[in-house]
Amino acid sequence: RYRDPNDENKVKPFAEQESWEENQIGKAILKFGSRDRKQKSDEFELVFENQIEFIKAEVMDGRSDKRESVELTEKSIMAKPTFDKLQDERKSLPIYRYKDKLLRAINDHQILVIVGETGSGKTTQIPQYLHEAGFTKFGKIGCTQPRRVAAMSVAARVSQEMGIKMGHEVGYSIRFEDCTCEKTVLKYMTDGILLREFLGEPDLASYSVLMVDEAHERTLSTDVLFVLVKDIARFRPDLKVLISSATLDAEKFSDYFDSAPIFYVPGRRYPVEIHNTKAPEADYLDAAVVTALQIHLTQPPGDGDILIFLTGQEEIENVEDILKYRLRGFGSKIAELIICPIYSNLPTELQAKIFEPIPQGARKVVLATNIAETSLTIDGIKYVIDPGFCKMKSYNPRTGMESLLVTPISKASADQRAGRSGRTSPGKCFRLYTAYTYYNDLEDNTVPEIKRSNLSNVVLTLKSLGIHNVVNFDFMDPPPEESILKALELLYALGALNKHGELTKVGRRMAEFPLDPMLSKMIVASDKYKCSAEIISIAAMLSVGSSIFYSPKNRKVLADNARMNFHVGNVGDHIALLNVYNSWKETDYSTQWYYENFIQVRSMKRARDIRDQLKGLLERVEIGLSSNLKDTEAIKKAIIAGFFPHSAHMQKNGLYRTIKLPQTVYIHPSSGLLHARPSWVVYHELVLTSKEYMRQVTELKPEWLVEIAPHCFKLKDVAGSDSKKQTCEGDLVS
Ligand code: CDP
Ligand code: MG
Repeated sequence: RYRDPNDENKVKPFAEQESWEENQIGKAILKFGSRDRKQKSDEFELVFENQIEFIKAEVMDGRSDKRESVELTEKSIMAKPTFDKLQDERKSLPIYRYKDKLLRAINDHQILVIVGETGSGKTTQIPQYLHEAGFTKFGKIGCTQPRRVAAMSVAARVSQEMGIKMGHEVGYSIRFEDCTCEKTVLKYMTDGILLREFLGEPDLASYSVLMVDEAHERTLSTDVLFVLVKDIARFRPDLKVLISSATLDAEKFSDYFDSAPIFYVPGRRYPVEIHNTKAPEADYLDAAVVTALQIHLTQPPGDGDILIFLTGQEEIENVEDILKYRLRGFGSKIAELIICPIYSNLPTELQAKIFEPIPQGARKVVLATNIAETSLTIDGIKYVIDPGFCKMKSYNPRTGMESLLVTPISKASADQRAGRSGRTSPGKCFRLYTAYTYYNDLEDNTVPEIKRSNLSNVVLTLKSLGIHNVVNFDFMDPPPEESILKALELLYALGALNKHGELTKVGRRMAEFPLDPMLSKMIVASDKYKCSAEIISIAAMLSVGSSIFYSPKNRKVLADNARMNFHVGNVGDHIALLNVYNSWKETDYSTQWYYENFIQVRSMKRARDIRDQLKGLLERVEIGLSSNLKDTEAIKKAIIAGFFPHSAHMQKNGLYRTIKLPQTVYIHPSSGLLHARPSWVVYHELVLTSKEYMRQVTELKPEWLVEIAPHCFKLKDVAGSDSKKQTCEGDLVS
């Protein structure tokens, strides 16, 4: 429970509603404090079964400007923006008054570091200013984003502001989705895409300006881009490089880019009151829901919207369900609460919803991943609920295992999140952890991704760019040497590098595919086994990123049966995916088929898109399309040619041991081979939930390992005794 003494006067929307007293609604009980009520009729208490108690911890200061605040709140409730209104909005952004100074600075310096509060207009405005100033006469303006959703939504916004159709002068490009054309001069893209563009155009001659945006996020690709961009800037004096960041520690960027000047865009920020829970919360999802309802029921809706930070799609869907369930209990007695989820796999047409104006008297609650921390600005947020977690990649170079784990955020993240509430008026942030945790348990900053990632893809890219000495590469923060060695070792094992660490023909072909090296190797190897048509279908299905099957709670048995139909004969999960794809194709992409088989339409369409692109890339590396549907052994061998480092051998009762650096793993419950438990398997990936699970599993014959990867497996390793330890030695020099 929290109550802000300053808000006492505002807190009266339900005071007159006698019938609410001690009325059990869903899991929540709303009740007026009877003693207080006699004395002060407009005061009430909201009681939930698991009430959350907060203590006000501090107020983050900000520069308050009341006049602008009013302007902006009025704007945020207006109807769909017209072109003129959008121009007014552009002019009201903090960056607008620095436009001329900024353009002058860009003219005077080749590399400029730009720092400005999130929402000040860096991403949407700077490329437009440069376009208006004529920079696009000499080449495109490229602006990178760490996140796909951000690239898409920012491009959409900018094309709206310019009054043109998306994909024409303004476009975006993300992996497997290119929404640009020859006309495109403002190109928003993920950092990974720009990295790949270096392969086709090493000096990026078609660009006049490169803006590496959201630099503070320090994603793996952004960190690699820093090195490459710094390098090409030396021999392309005409190229302008902008490094933009939302955090103030820009000196590090400046130092790295040979003391590039820093341009500060003073932000507009209002004070934010921070509230912490009194005690740690055991169930932060429930706590987040209760807090959101507490806010919604006690604060007038016109006041502002709520933003909840969650770790991923699953949590967001969970919270959405719980919220809907609890809101149903209130019926129409309370103001409408509109739930807007946003995460990277959310279908594009639903993403726009978070920016849409809402009916008068309603309130929006945005359920977002870290994407809303700095990449996306949603106007009108006044309350932030921060459970204090995010999903973070971690990598163990010893075992070569990468995992995505729910991890406490850093202090810097917590502050960014809180700041999201004070953009258009004074805000409040409710942290679902104690002040003690904030000060004593959270790290100051998030560790850059390069220090906690598998680097095999990056190393392959660098090698294909002709950068031989990857160990002494000029990284802003060098990755652990062990990670680089591990990457070299894997690429050598896959045949992408020779033993001097030089790129081979296989490696060159692999680098053409925007995929993980093991997947690329599988595709390249499919040439030998004459089944490239099947393998690209499998690779596409594995790359979709969202689930293929769905299983409604009330029809679970039917859905499971439908799914198992693709697994007949214990073909393994890879071939089952192929069966799904082919069966869809055979019905001529019929709609009926989705329903009968409990398949996600969107995932299949995406798989088809990806497959088409992989097919194009096959041509580029001069691999013919060959089909060998009947020969499942050939298909499995091609899979193993890429994934032999992911082989495992059963020890007993469903307990497997991975072969390289033994680790105990299990078959994922979603696998068709869960009950068959073959003795030897190859898996696509490991996921850690309650146990370490292998996902997408296919049976193999141990002799195949010796046949396909003789440099890693000897016959004596795989034959005979089960307990014998297998080894894989990649004797490699870099
Ligand atoms: O990059 P920075 O965080 O400095 O700001 P921005 O992304 O350029 O956003 C500036 C303003 O544009 C935001 O305050 C939003 O009002 C608006 N915007 C939007 O309405 N829709 C988007 N997809 C992106 C930005
Ligand atoms: Mg931005």
